[in-house]
Amino acid sequence: MYGNTEQLAEAIASEAAACGVKNIVMHNLSKSHLSYVIQDVFKYKALIIGSPTYDSKLYPAVQNLVNTLENKNLKDRYFGYFGGHSWAGTSLRLLGEFADKMQFEIVCGAVDMKQSLNQDVYDKAETLGSNMAKKILSDDEIVPNKTTDCQ
Ligand SMILES: Cc1cc2nc3c(=O)[nH]c(=O)nc-3n(C[C@H](O)[C@H](O)[C@H](O)COP(=O)(O)O)c2cc1C
Repeated sequence: MYGNTEQLAEAIASEAAACGVKNIVMHNLSKSHLSYVIQDVFKYKALIIGSPTYDSKLYPAVQNLVNTLENKNLKDRYFGYFGGHSWAGTSLRLLGEFADKMQFEIVCGAVDMKQSLNQDVYDKAETLGSNMAKKILSDDEIVPNKTTDCQ
């Protein structure tokens, strides 16, 4: 709606790139057709989803993606997530519940943002980006239902 979620996504992706991840694809769900997003989700072993809180729910386009991935029974992914809100956030919790249901390996740490990016949120974005990069570049097997420790 206002671009805050996009800025946070950029911060996470920049850090992952700085830590050595070469192939990063980003989609703005307000603009990308879902079929292209799904195609990329199936191509890569890691997935990070972010959503603003919208009427106490996920942003509709994100909800649509989440429903589709659930229906397609996507498995075996490193998963990171982040959410934004102004007064009472629910998007972070809902994305965490989605991750649990899908039995993803959850990469530390989910980033919660009140309204817009500040230094604290930016630091957390870097932590998620670098931890995701470590996982992607490792030879570790993806462990379902595990949450990795922050490094
Ligand atoms: C239509 C609409 C509904 C919203 N609903 C909520 C809400 O239920 N709870 C909340 O805390 N913030 C709510 N917000 C605030 C957004 O979550 C917040 O502004 C967020 O940073 C927007 O992300 P964006 O900049 O990526 O669009 C709402 C904003 C809009 C425009």
